[in-house]
Amino acid sequence: KMNKFISTLMQKMTLDEKLGQLNLPGAGDITTGQASSSDIAQKIEDGKIGGLFNIKTVEKIKDVQKIAVEKSRLKIPLIFGMDVIHGYQTVFPIPLGLSCTWDMALIERSARIAAIEASADGINWTFSPMVDISRDARWGRASEGSGEDPYLGSQIAKAMVKGYQGDDLSRNNTILACVKHFALYGAIEAGRDYNTTDMSRLRMYNEYFPPYKAAVDAGAGSVMTSFNEVDGIPASANKWLMTDVLRKQWGFNGMVVTDYTAINEMIEHGLGDLKTVSALALKAGVDMDMVGEGFLTTLKQSLTGGKIAQQEIDMACQRILEAKYKLGLFDDPYRYCNVKRSKTEILTPANRKEARATAAQSFVLLKNDNHILPLKKGGKIALIGPLADATENMTGTWSVAADFKKSVSVLSGLKSIGGKNTKISYAKGANLTADSALEERSTMFGKSLGRDPRSADVLLKEALAIAQQADVIVAALGESAEMSGESSSRSDITIPQVQKDLLAALLKTGKPVVLVLFTGRPLALKWESENAPSILNVWFGGSEAGDAIADVLFGDVNPSGKLTMTFPQNVGQVPIYYNHKNTGRPLAEGKWFQKFRSNYLDVSNDPLYPFGYGLSYTTFDYSAIQLSDTLLKKGQSIKANITVKNTGSRDGQEVVQLYTRDLVGSITRPVEELKGFQKISLKAGESRVVSFTITEEDLKFYNSDLNYVAEPGTFKLFIGTNSKDVKEVGFTLQ
Ligand code: IFM
Repeated sequence: KMNKFISTLMQKMTLDEKLGQLNLPGAGDITTGQASSSDIAQKIEDGKIGGLFNIKTVEKIKDVQKIAVEKSRLKIPLIFGMDVIHGYQTVFPIPLGLSCTWDMALIERSARIAAIEASADGINWTFSPMVDISRDARWGRASEGSGEDPYLGSQIAKAMVKGYQGDDLSRNNTILACVKHFALYGAIEAGRDYNTTDMSRLRMYNEYFPPYKAAVDAGAGSVMTSFNEVDGIPASANKWLMTDVLRKQWGFNGMVVTDYTAINEMIEHGLGDLKTVSALALKAGVDMDMVGEGFLTTLKQSLTGGKIAQQEIDMACQRILEAKYKLGLFDDPYRYCNVKRSKTEILTPANRKEARATAAQSFVLLKNDNHILPLKKGGKIALIGPLADATENMTGTWSVAADFKKSVSVLSGLKSIGGKNTKISYAKGANLTADSALEERSTMFGKSLGRDPRSADVLLKEALAIAQQADVIVAALGESAEMSGESSSRSDITIPQVQKDLLAALLKTGKPVVLVLFTGRPLALKWESENAPSILNVWFGGSEAGDAIADVLFGDVNPSGKLTMTFPQNVGQVPIYYNHKNTGRPLAEGKWFQKFRSNYLDVSNDPLYPFGYGLSYTTFDYSAIQLSDTLLKKGQSIKANITVKNTGSRDGQEVVQLYTRDLVGSITRPVEELKGFQKISLKAGESRVVSFTITEEDLKFYNSDLNYVAEPGTFKLFIGTNSKDVKEVGFTLQ
């Protein structure tokens, strides 16, 4: 039912003014550096723009809002969007890292802080969360999602939406969320960005749709279309997707915006000229056209030519106006333009503290032989590597609002947290890669690692000289920030060879070496895992990364992050994910090769590090699982209890994970599915009974008629420290 205020307003609007609301140009203050439309001020005055994105600072936003509400005929305020992806100026870990915290309250708080800072700077709409499931480490944007699991991805999607939107969107410190990219963007072929996607509806509903739906159920106010096609039709023209699934099946009643020029790109997809594709997009259920201005320039003609209906334009316009209404912009168009807030609520010490604590929770300890970590404070540390003093790279990809120069590098973190008695020496040791053209392509938004003109030999020599003098070597290696992210797909997912050579030389010194790994995606680290005694994966930890890394290296924080995307042994195993199907020819237990079975000749099917994996400085022991009953009756529940004990000498946090397997189904079912998790803190020596409740609801899936059902039969239930290392029991669903 249309809100009275909006229906009255719409009665006054001309067709041109309605079409104007559907237009979303980029201001170009950030990312591209160029406005996407000419004469923006004049267009606002003429009522040809509904909102602007990537415009920065309250002053600028106020200026353009003033034009809209003082000079345009109907004085309709603009909505202001931005890619506030993992923080605003206080930057949190890249989303893939954030997901490894498995801490929903922490994730929600990070989104809350992002919303407070962004709204203090004039922004009221973020293009986040990105909830695309990804099983392909070659895809650079895996860094921006929450990994491979639909259940965990759904929990995170909800937490992010709640964090951004709060419980009242009209408050001046909550912002509209935008779930993206609808749909299946993470399933592009060969991990090559913007490539084709094709999958069965069963896979969509069971494996890829859940996080989008969870975000919609959590009340997300907007949805962004994806660049890829779905079932042969690009998402932005896909009526089944935008209308049947999103609106009719899921009950979404917010606004749909396209991705950047996604309508225009349908010309290249081969769907017709701009007029045709714009009409298709509107008819499919798209409301707002990001950047391309196809709606603005062609829909009138399409209306006259009978290709679209007036009601379709009205509907799109209504949804955009409703979003503005929910944000309270009609009450006060300057609600988010408070100069005082912009000076006091951004990059505050409290926010930075939270970002530092969050970053430390996101790090994943992959290996720690001989308890090399934590390091002692005092003594001599040689910090070596191209990422060691890389302040501008710490925030990672899509951190457009940040001042990269204000981030904390590893060098600075080690110095300040290590204190006076710790002697830190530093050498770069190697450039990011020997391939300067690749380095150039991996440099965006001014986030360069800087290329040292000296030869690899000279850099190595300098590093070895300080390494020889040290008690321990910390090697900060991996990818640069923009080696992952949008348009940063890789076919080789190893650490660049020149850095591996450096690591090999450091290992040869015989000194203990800690590999501090920077990456925006799972990497193939077989050699490193076999040779480096200790590996701490720190992703890109955000503006406070260096301090957080030092907190964990020195043991002030015990690492507890768990992987949310499988690490492969090599790129040939990709896509690799824990919740795969069994196939008709699975390998026998414990084997890694059998002729005429589903496997490779040259590598086992095992991941290098499985989903859910991550070590701690302490150890946890799991008892057998106690089930309250082995029969789960309809409408009832059973309890699975397990005792987890901290068997080490340090306090620590553990993510206790519950998985199930449906042994017989009307369709084939995954070998394991995450159905629950609890992050607990245990003091050294402490035990706790962790309890999970399982109901029929947890066992539901979409069957081949796309009905959401649980099928009676036998199940396995697993609980453990990661997806592979689990205790097991069986039960039956009546
Ligand atoms: O929000 C982004 C999207 O994720 C990728 N293309 C550009 C958009 C706006 O910056």
